[in-house]
Amino acid sequence: MEKELLISKKSIEKRVKELANQISLDYEGRDPVLIGVLKGVIFFLADLARELSIPAKIDFIRAASYGAGTTSSRTVRLTKDIETSIHGKPVILVEDIVDTGLTLAHIVKEIERKGPESIRICALIEKLERQDIKIPIDYCGFRIEEGFIIGYGLDFDEKYRNLPDLYVLR
Ligand code: IMP
Ligand code: MG
Repeated sequence: MEKELLISKKSIEKRVKELANQISLDYEGRDPVLIGVLKGVIFFLADLARELSIPAKIDFIRAASYGAGTTSSRTVRLTKDIETSIHGKPVILVEDIVDTGLTLAHIVKEIERKGPESIRICALIEKLERQDIKIPIDYCGFRIEEGFIIGYGLDFDEKYRNLPDLYVLR
């Protein structure tokens, strides 16, 4: 398989700053908890959080999905829960990429049960080709039609996460 450059490190940096500025404006005077979905989100969350001009707490959650490939028949379960109390607090869920929406839908449900004041979603990439569960993304870095994306935290079989740019695998 070959990798083809999709979004350069420079463009990612610029877009992450824009998202952080918008979040800083929207949450001014508040103290949101950023919940990153491991592992793909590591670099995005690290960059985004450091561009915010508001105080923010950081925690992580992790989900695994099993079953028939990438269809909505998969089941999702949490393999790591957050460790911060979010009751009554504004939460921003930060994801690397939303494809079917199944993982995100499950995580949102789990977080809702903990009684946060609000939940908004921030995703680096939203894929448009295969959305089984449509979840509105409040802060979206890039929208792409299709393809399997790697780099900047995103993996294929645990490889390529440490590439600084985003690529599409062909
Ligand atoms: P969903 O449940 O189908 O929305 O898939 C979400 C998860 O699948 C993401 O959090 C990623 O970990 C993984 N994933 C989906 N599409 C891609 C991709 O193009 N590259 C790398 N990982 C992906
Ligand atoms: Mg992920």
